[in-house]
Amino acid sequence: MAITLSTLNKLKQEGSKFTCLTAYDSTFAHLASNAGVEVLLVGDSLGNVLQGHDSTVPVTLQDMIYHTECVKRGNQGALIMSDLPFMTYATEEQTLESCAALMRAGAHVVKMEGGEWLAGSVKKLTERGVPVCIHLGLTPQSVNKFGGYKVQGRDPAEREALIRDSLAAEQAGAAILLFECIPSDLMEEIMSKVSIPVIGIGAGPASDAQVLVMHDMLGATTRKPAKFVKNFMAAGDGTIQGAFSAYVAAVKDGSFPAAEHGFD
Ligand code: KIV
Repeated sequence: MAITLSTLNKLKQEGSKFTCLTAYDSTFAHLASNAGVEVLLVGDSLGNVLQGHDSTVPVTLQDMIYHTECVKRGNQGALIMSDLPFMTYATEEQTLESCAALMRAGAHVVKMEGGEWLAGSVKKLTERGVPVCIHLGLTPQSVNKFGGYKVQGRDPAEREALIRDSLAAEQAGAAILLFECIPSDLMEEIMSKVSIPVIGIGAGPASDAQVLVMHDMLGATTRKPAKFVKNFMAAGDGTIQGAFSAYVAAVKDGSFPAAEHGFD
């Protein structure tokens, strides 16, 4: 049975966790969706892990279209969520055009990084049949504004702003929220205020779902892994499919993320 937004909402209502994993090509999309990953994220992290850039800023819409098409061919029923890359959603008109291209390529949901300023776009997209995920917290496309990859929402003003952004996104019609690198207790507070499915990475265990970059959780990295990463290659049966299954099982039984993967 294909996973839809209704499936994610039902899982949330039942209190069952779900999993999200990045995928950029057909083979890995096949293996991950076969292992029970509910959401395949065609992330612009492909700029780092496939293209070798030091940020996601150079990724183009054409790159995202190509990789979404590849993932669609291998997908075995997961929900495909694709990132709008840097500066392809700067105006509402541009956003509609960029999203149309990703949806035609095979995305079921589009993801954008940003807060209250995106509310108008979220409303327009939702009205036109495009489900949106809003990515908050450490938004990698803004690395140059942040001055590095840093935990967000630690000071009271940032904390309040993130809560405001979450509520604005939900009110505008966002289907999913995704939080990256925020304190675990802030994630808990936001969970008590929003009712749409929430995915976390480096945001503690409170969210409805977890996401990891596939290369990180397979240990296929050239840099020291971030604190929130667990190597599931070591936790599985030694195969890639086994690593994906171990990840799905650990998210569902609540053993991942553990306290050591979160931030204060
Ligand atoms: O691009 C990506 O892979 C992401 C995840 C890190 C959430 O946005």
